[in-house]
Amino acid sequence: MNVIPLRSMGAYGFEVTKPAPGTSSVGKPSYADIVGGDNQPVPLILQPSGQPVEVEGLISFDRYIDPKFVDLEVEHLWNKQWQIACREEDIPNVGDRLTYDIVDSSFIIVRSAPDEIKAFYNSCPHRGRRLCDHAENRDDFRCPFHAWTWNLDGGLAWVPGEEDFPSVSKEHHALQEVRVGRWGGNVFINPDPDAVEFKKSLGPIPAMFADHPMEERYTVLHLRKQVRCNWKLTQEAFMEGYHVLETHWDGMPFFGSAYSQYDNWDDGDSHVNRLVTPSVAPDMWVQDSVTPFESARQFCATMGLPLPSFEDIHTVAQAREWCAVQRRQALEAESGHNLSDKPHSYFLDMTKAFVFPNHHPWWGEALAWWYRFLPVGRDTDLSMMEVRITARIPKGQSAPPSPTPIDLGPDDRTCDCEALGVVGHILDQDMSNLVEIQKGLKAAKPDKAFMTLARYQESNIRHFHNVYNKLLGIS
Ligand code: FES
Ligand SMILES: [Fe+2]
Repeated sequence: MNVIPLRSMGAYGFEVTKPAPGTSSVGKPSYADIVGGDNQPVPLILQPSGQPVEVEGLISFDRYIDPKFVDLEVEHLWNKQWQIACREEDIPNVGDRLTYDIVDSSFIIVRSAPDEIKAFYNSCPHRGRRLCDHAENRDDFRCPFHAWTWNLDGGLAWVPGEEDFPSVSKEHHALQEVRVGRWGGNVFINPDPDAVEFKKSLGPIPAMFADHPMEERYTVLHLRKQVRCNWKLTQEAFMEGYHVLETHWDGMPFFGSAYSQYDNWDDGDSHVNRLVTPSVAPDMWVQDSVTPFESARQFCATMGLPLPSFEDIHTVAQAREWCAVQRRQALEAESGHNLSDKPHSYFLDMTKAFVFPNHHPWWGEALAWWYRFLPVGRDTDLSMMEVRITARIPKGQSAPPSPTPIDLGPDDRTCDCEALGVVGHILDQDMSNLVEIQKGLKAAKPDKAFMTLARYQESNIRHFHNVYNKLLGIS
């Protein structure tokens, strides 16, 4: 592909300003310029954090390939941090339960009362059998080995031949509970009783999503894709837009990835960052060959929206207005909700937040997704990427239960999954790199086995590793 040099930005129809600290210094115009061109209030989540981008330190490759990091992650992340276990609509009815498995640990997540969710260690107090191995509904917990039984609140209900177990008591043989936190229809757990209060671990996230309530959304599609690389690498592929030039080159006419804005918010208790990429702004690399009209035309064609006419679209601001209005009207017709108070950015710009260590809620209707990245057992070379496509619960209805997840193995192509539409194609582009990154890390010359990260465009990855280093005690 030919790389086209930067040109003057007159076609954008608004003034281009010098990026302020904490905003893009790479793409011109900056994201702030583009969203400013909409001439609308900028939602909280799209505003810069004002926190400096972290730049110091090396990230060595061994954390992705050396099994000793599996143990370190268990000790310092999975046993200590708040982590997302499921969505509430996965267990809509009292008695619904599923398992959340992480490395060697397993937890049962259960709806124990209409508005109560509990979590327990998934291990029988008798002789240790896992109590639950698949999603199901029951009004108790009954061990499949010898039938010991507990109530939904974890209290011991029945021990066959109880007289033979003089040491068994309700007090000591209840199921062992784990802390649960709920926000935005998401269920989190934390095995550490001394961990920071759940709300503190979310930091600014609830305020950022106040105008996009996740609890009013439901899972339309749930994909679980295994990938042959470390969970952190899979996650990092979705923490920067820098790879779009080479990996998703065909999206550049309408995804302005070079203008992406990256911010982080970290107060020591919460570790949050956010990436936002504008749509309907031809990327920096193609701006000389793609007009705003063409950008809008391609966006509408991809999204199944009415196409603009050539006479109406001369600037990016006009292109964005056309596309946002079409998208808003389509969503209003679908959901019955009035969305006229939402700015164009809500319908156009890909806004992905990140809550350490592995949850990525998306804001707005541009890409209304939800990500989680997990290790698979103790395998350093295998991970699970979960994508949920979410939608707002239609007016006057309650959330439908979650659909059965679509499970794809490491060799399955996401583009073969028809329900994903164009998303499948985009994910396959990402997957093609990931296997080769894991191999490439192992192939590196030992004294050069560390990353070279961009100061700005890869700052969300830097932020992740700054937190990771601190928690794991890596200097
Ligand atoms: S191991 Fe569970 S009842 Fe025996
Ligand atoms: Fe990608």
